[in-house]
Amino acid sequence: MFGNLETLPPDPILGVTAAFRADPDPRKIDLGVGVYRDENGNTPVPAAVREAERQVLAAQSSKTYVGPLGNPEFNERIVALALGELAGTLRERTATIQTVGGCGALRMAAELLHAASPGSVVHVSDPTWANHEPLLGNSGIALQRYPYYEPATRSVAFDRMLEHIEGLPAGAVLLLHGSCHNPTGVDLELAQWRAVADVLERRGVVPFVDLAYQGLGDDLETDVAGLRLLAARLPTLLLAISCSKNFGLYRERTGALAVIAENAATARAITTHQARIGRRMYSMPPDHGAAVAARVLGEAQLRRAWQDETVAMVARMKALRALLAGRLAGRRPDRDFSWLTGQRGMFSLLGLAPAGIRALCVEEHVYVPPDGRINIAGVSDANVDRVADALVRVLERR
Ligand SMILES: Cc1ncc(COP(=O)(O)O)c(C=O)c1O
Repeated sequence: MFGNLETLPPDPILGVTAAFRADPDPRKIDLGVGVYRDENGNTPVPAAVREAERQVLAAQSSKTYVGPLGNPEFNERIVALALGELAGTLRERTATIQTVGGCGALRMAAELLHAASPGSVVHVSDPTWANHEPLLGNSGIALQRYPYYEPATRSVAFDRMLEHIEGLPAGAVLLLHGSCHNPTGVDLELAQWRAVADVLERRGVVPFVDLAYQGLGDDLETDVAGLRLLAARLPTLLLAISCSKNFGLYRERTGALAVIAENAATARAITTHQARIGRRMYSMPPDHGAAVAARVLGEAQLRRAWQDETVAMVARMKALRALLAGRLAGRRPDRDFSWLTGQRGMFSLLGLAPAGIRALCVEEHVYVPPDGRINIAGVSDANVDRVADALVRVLERR
């Protein structure tokens, strides 16, 4: 039956973790997979999340099914976290389903788009997160890329991006990273979000926002300012939410897809399709992570404690950026590394040539994915000098 299947190459990001684990060198450093790490290299469960878990388990009287749309309190609270007061205004026009993490939300959105409008094309940023294209494209929806990043200036290629959007037909879909662009770390400024909204509105292009890092760029409000601007102005918007990073719920697979429709009747119809897509793929989402996130958001004390923990995560990542930029500048005063501190979130593109990226992994035992993205949270006081030494040695490899 399966004898004709060839062994596939490893996933570009998960393969880095496997290579890191297999390396016996004690000096090895993992800057690969995008998980937050503390000073000891651990990916902690936030204390507020741990306490919410305790409360959820203590109150749980049954493990019967949650239903295809998942936990209604979670759905309402997570959308309110993203949209703020707008969530109330848009409630009747919003169709939300709890999903299997942010990946589940992205895939559910692609399935929904494909069902509603099989000819539509989703435009993703160039570059984008390595799993966007496989995850969305496997639904059958067509994908194209739009210019996003200018490697020479390490900034958004904004004129080219706008030009691309200007050329799109009505009904095209534009995937935007809500904050902490993965892999570049370079986000749109608010004025740029406004300019994008103008063009989307004029051209009838539908925004699709991937919100995987709310609260990890600047703060829980600033990180969604662009999203809220779009949601307030455009008739239709898709929003894929992940609770993996900001709640530390990675393995609980917690997320949501919210679709803002033109009117309440369309939103109700979308809900039935979301439920059917889920039912046909995996039937129902898992309970635990959503129940925990709902409790964190619903209990004032837990919510405050969790917010403080997101603030601490941001402070640590900003400090690490400054630390690494300083150590690199100390070693190579002829080069500018200030861009590292201007970026948002966990990621940075090093701009290394493929030979440099290979040398970093093979010779220096510093593991990064093939696009040369580093996870800043993998840097620590203990390893920053080794990271800086290794980077400087491979900077000019061609
Ligand atoms: C840009 C982006 N979107 C979505 C996700 C999905 O996250 P998850 O499915 O783990 O919630 C990730 C995770 O790395 C991401 O980086």
